[in-house]
Amino acid sequence: MFETIQSRGVDQILSLMLAFRSDPRDQKVDLVVGVYKDANGDVPVMKAVKAAEKVLLEEEDTKTYVGMAGDAEYRAFVPPMLLGSEAKVIKEGRITSLQTVGGSGALKVGCDLLHGMNPDQLVWVSTPTWANHIPVATDSGLKTAQYPYFRLSDRGLDFDGMMSHLEANAKAGDAILLHACCHNPTGVDLSFEQWKIVTDFVLKRGLLPYVDCAYQGLGDGMEEDVAGLRYLAERVPEMLLASSFSKNFGIYRERTGALSIVARTPEELAVVQEAAETAIRSNYSMPPSHGARVVATVLSDPAMKADWAEELEEMRERVAEMRSELRRMLEERQVTRDLSFITDQKGMFSYTGFTKDEVVRLRDDFGIYTAGDGRMNVAALAPENLEAVADGFAAILRA
Ligand SMILES: Cc1ncc(COP(=O)(O)O)c(C=O)c1O
Repeated sequence: MFETIQSRGVDQILSLMLAFRSDPRDQKVDLVVGVYKDANGDVPVMKAVKAAEKVLLEEEDTKTYVGMAGDAEYRAFVPPMLLGSEAKVIKEGRITSLQTVGGSGALKVGCDLLHGMNPDQLVWVSTPTWANHIPVATDSGLKTAQYPYFRLSDRGLDFDGMMSHLEANAKAGDAILLHACCHNPTGVDLSFEQWKIVTDFVLKRGLLPYVDCAYQGLGDGMEEDVAGLRYLAERVPEMLLASSFSKNFGIYRERTGALSIVARTPEELAVVQEAAETAIRSNYSMPPSHGARVVATVLSDPAMKADWAEELEEMRERVAEMRSELRRMLEERQVTRDLSFITDQKGMFSYTGFTKDEVVRLRDDFGIYTAGDGRMNVAALAPENLEAVADGFAAILRA
């Protein structure tokens, strides 16, 4: 019977990872996979995470199930981190956060919830968007539509294109997926002023905002990165918010995320939470414990929390420094086209605007691997590979 299953094709990122591994050249550089690497090219375990794990090893006294909603202490940390402890929705008891299997699990549960609410539900996503957004939404049975976002000419935001398309096509009741910060794959974010305009539009048109926050702390800082999201959350009656600690705690494999739900009243919230828990139950029953315990242990201990915040800030600064260094080196190599996009884009990714052929040339001639759409992981740049990357990029950009 299995012969009836159609291949969806090998995931592009995974096949590039395999190609990189089997590339025999010494001078190869992997800018594909979206994980933070330190200056030595390692994906480190943060010091506070290690410290918390020691405590857990000593103190954990049960392995019983955590329940569908997840770890209560962990869940309580999520809304204030995302929205600020003074957020109106927290004071009014209109928000709940459910522990999920990473940010991906949060997105899936949120999409299942939307589909359960309305089998014809449509969700708007940016062009481009994270490679998994559309598959997750459509596998939940949702319809998707795309709004313009990235403008190739200056590798910036096509805000006018985005808003006029939505103005003409979005309908009351549609959901709109927005990236809180560090847009993946482009690194191009809405400004605070643009968040205000989007908020007005969402309210006027009666859309349901669904915000994906996977990189808080890796753009301009923990507070700065969510300023637009907070503006939106103060004003909309209802919202879904998928968040992840994979990147800002460096605990990718521990699958630690949350789906936060904002409802109009605490009473409505209780009903929506029950529906979300039903979706969790039929997906994976209950989330794992470890990552959530690590986060809760770090955030409840002032010394560990300070240590974590400091290390995250160092990571953020390293990524920003790599952006400036790459730009400087390209300018040194007489690349005359406008390179401001490299330092303007935020977070771990940059959309270079390289064509498919240029991506192949970079790989074949220089051993530099970017994603097929030209996305590079800036967090994989390091002093030891910067010169090689600048040489390769300069050859392409000067052509
Ligand atoms: C935009 C975006 N959303 C969600 C996720 C999922 O994160 P997680 O690894 O926690 O599932 C990612 C991970 O790369 C992402 O880039």
